[in-house]
Amino acid sequence: MRDEVNDALQALIEREVDMGAGEVAREAGRVLNAGGKRLRPILFLLAYRVAGGTKQDDVMPLALAFELIHTATLVHDDINDEAQQRRGIPTIHANAGQAKAVIAGDWLFVQGFGLGGRYSAQIVSIIARCCANIAVSEFDQLDHVLNLATSPEDYLSIVRGKTAGPFASGCYAAGLVAGLEDEQARALERFGMELGIAFQLVDDLLDLRGDERMGKPRGADVYEGKMTLPLIHALTLSHGKHRQRLSEVIEGFNDGDFDELMELLERSSSMEYAEILVRTHLERAQAELDRFPESEAKDMMMMITNLVKDRHA
Ligand code: IPE
Ligand code: IPE
Ligand code: MG
Ligand code: MG
Ligand code: MG
Repeated sequence: MRDEVNDALQALIEREVDMGAGEVAREAGRVLNAGGKRLRPILFLLAYRVAGGTKQDDVMPLALAFELIHTATLVHDDINDEAQQRRGIPTIHANAGQAKAVIAGDWLFVQGFGLGGRYSAQIVSIIARCCANIAVSEFDQLDHVLNLATSPEDYLSIVRGKTAGPFASGCYAAGLVAGLEDEQARALERFGMELGIAFQLVDDLLDLRGDERMGKPRGADVYEGKMTLPLIHALTLSHGKHRQRLSEVIEGFNDGDFDELMELLERSSSMEYAEILVRTHLERAQAELDRFPESEAKDMMMMITNLVKDRHA
């Protein structure tokens, strides 16, 4: 399935280059085809099958639309986060400058909307709402930078908007394309939301733990002042000199502070806390899937939810 998605995305870029899109298509294509996991499109193709759909061609543009939109958000996210690497290669702004990166991100959005716009008005508005929510929660996240009073609820609301929402919207829309009634498709939406929350929690844990397979350096979130759940949890549970030191480390973070930060998180078992939440959200995701009849696609989706827990990249 990943190969099919990759081939279709490759063909889209080649077509655009042939039609004269030039550098913007090449730059966008460089990050688009640098080897993302394609988790979203694969899930949406599977959700379509779980919902009883049998004509993959009917859902492929939707799956590709979400991957293009996802990549667009990454290009823009990396400008804001000043990230130098994405998917193991230099980011567009590092390679071609910020102005071109903004435009290349817009270009990717437009390619996504072009494909998503082929669907019914209901699905188009699901996609539009999802993209609007990403913007709302990215704003919200910026307003919480280094806000040590950020609550788990604030965090969850940001994660629902920026990450889990697209998983939810894609699964929901795929169910509708397969012909499900709205109520049944909503179960796929809830599945996507739960899986997406777990996915971002794991992303945040990986950022703290560090893994060279991530294709980006460790600790970027702490440098950014991003309040992820392990930090929020530790700030809530720590007191006295440990709480004091934790806030100093977060506020003035540099590489040499990593071991100390991890020790402080360990004192309050904050990494474990986030891991338990990952499992809870994955169990909820699987409970939603269990409403659907047994099928190979459902088994694969169950397997993917298990992979999210143990992923390294
Ligand atoms: C990265 O998403 C952004 C987050 C929501 C954490 P992925 O980890 O799915 O990135 P790719 O698509 O595989 O590169
Ligand atoms: C996900 O957040 C980005 C979007 C959904 C736009 P992150 O900022 O955590 O993504 P990474 O860690 O840079 O991939
Ligand atoms: Mg980022
Ligand atoms: Mg970000
Ligand atoms: Mg991250």
